[in-house]
Amino acid sequence: MKRILTGIQSSGKPHLGNVLGAILPAIELSKKADNECFFFIADLHSLTTIKDAEARKNNVYSVAAAWLAFGFDTGSNFFYRQSRIPEVCELTWYTSCFMPFSRLSLAHSFKDKSDRLEDVNAGLFLYPVLMSSDILLYDAEMVPVGKDQKQHLEITRELARRINHHYKTELFVVPEIKLDEKVMIIPGTDGQKMSKSYNNYIDIFKPKKQLKKDVMKIVTDTKALEDPKDPDTCNVFQLYATVASPEQIEEMAANYRAGNYGYGHAKTALFELLWTKFEKEREQYDYYMNNLDEVDRLLSIGEDRARETAVKVLDRVRKTLGFS
Ligand code: TRP
Repeated sequence: MKRILTGIQSSGKPHLGNVLGAILPAIELSKKADNECFFFIADLHSLTTIKDAEARKNNVYSVAAAWLAFGFDTGSNFFYRQSRIPEVCELTWYTSCFMPFSRLSLAHSFKDKSDRLEDVNAGLFLYPVLMSSDILLYDAEMVPVGKDQKQHLEITRELARRINHHYKTELFVVPEIKLDEKVMIIPGTDGQKMSKSYNNYIDIFKPKKQLKKDVMKIVTDTKALEDPKDPDTCNVFQLYATVASPEQIEEMAANYRAGNYGYGHAKTALFELLWTKFEKEREQYDYYMNNLDEVDRLLSIGEDRARETAVKVLDRVRKTLGFS
């Protein structure tokens, strides 16, 4: 049995790119019988950039509702809010005292963010240490992440080894990095990577009219209806290809090449596919967003169970460091 752990940013309502690139592959992994998955919403990390309390709560709920809507099994896995297991903060203090300052100041995510953001706070600087505590607190064996998180994972491994070496004991499990090389890059409505920060995303949980409007806004070239078109350079086709079946993709590609098939036709087909394909998930999402008590209940089950592991590991750490 492998213990797999990953954190989910709570930076807002998940869009199509998050669904296809993160939620579905992670849920797939969790369905393998010999895996035990700890998936948590990294709401403590969100404080580095988001200060608005209401926004934080809403973000957590909409991320949780999306995972639940796509069928994450909270009975056989662990699903929790990071902040509800405050032991992670205590561990962060301990491990920070083993973390070379210079290593953190060279971390590129910190350098990138501090160049870009106005609010360069110490939490941003300690972000990788909190992240390593997320992992070490649960004895996680494998952490699936995208390329952008690789350095954070390397920092975690170094830190675990350094502390183990210092106390000459296997205090921490050194986690394996599972890099998602083939992470699908989902194109946005303008052809760049779909991202909240580019405002080019498709929100599949929106009501019908609004979803249609968003799809109709996808940027295309100005070829006339009768002209043959190139599917490979068209955003509408590229997006269609991320959700359609191989036969549907082939059919649309043939239509493009044949001519007399306009971008309006392709957009309508894309909209209809998105609308029908995610119908069940949309209903479930709305159900959870209208029943936040139910979301709270499911999360707190995961929190109680996750905490049992956290308390044991922290106890081991306290003993080793001479705090008990
Ligand atoms: N920093 C991660 C991201 O931005 C989220 C995260 C927080 C995480 N803690 C984690 C991922 C621990 C893996 C393990 O996506």
